[in-house]
Amino acid sequence: MHTGVESPQGVWWKPAHRAERLWVIIAFVWCMVLFAMMPLWHLRGAQNPSGIRAKVDPQAYMARTLEFIEAYQVGEENGFPVVEPPPGSDVYLVAQMWQWRPVLRLQEGVEYTLHISSVDVNHGFSLYPVNLNFQIVPGYDYGLRVTPTEAGDFRIICNEFCGIGHHLMLGKVEVIPATQSASTGEGVAQ
Ligand code: CUA
Repeated sequence: MHTGVESPQGVWWKPAHRAERLWVIIAFVWCMVLFAMMPLWHLRGAQNPSGIRAKVDPQAYMARTLEFIEAYQVGEENGFPVVEPPPGSDVYLVAQMWQWRPVLRLQEGVEYTLHISSVDVNHGFSLYPVNLNFQIVPGYDYGLRVTPTEAGDFRIICNEFCGIGHHLMLGKVEVIPATQSASTGEGVAQ
């Protein structure tokens, strides 16, 4: 009989085989490479958000967004204002349980400063079908510099659990070809 107190009989204490030791060494070296990549990628990687981060009072942010909506609203969709800001301007998007406001209409190939903040809890900004993710934290304004490179309709999906209506939290960004802009009127066929 054998209990946990006594040493088991057998050959388990024999030194590991050369091949096994080699694998352990390779795995360890690879772990170190990945570990080094974390700070390296943070400092050198081109995936870091480009923008101006600032603390912001949620109510002040909401007020600024409403001001922005009022200034550039061009329509309405499902009760949400559709806003077409001037090319290259500062754009405001607010996350709130459980909606993204407003619907943004942006021009292809133009750089905007996209301000995003939350007025209640953490939300996740995920742009579908583009692989773009960003954590939205209340009290912080993320002035992301973005250039839409493709015309079409994009959905904003919340990817941070934010309560009972999380799965309903959908927003929209429309990217229009440069020639179809309503605000500039350039190149529109008559
Ligand atoms: Cu907002 Cu989940």
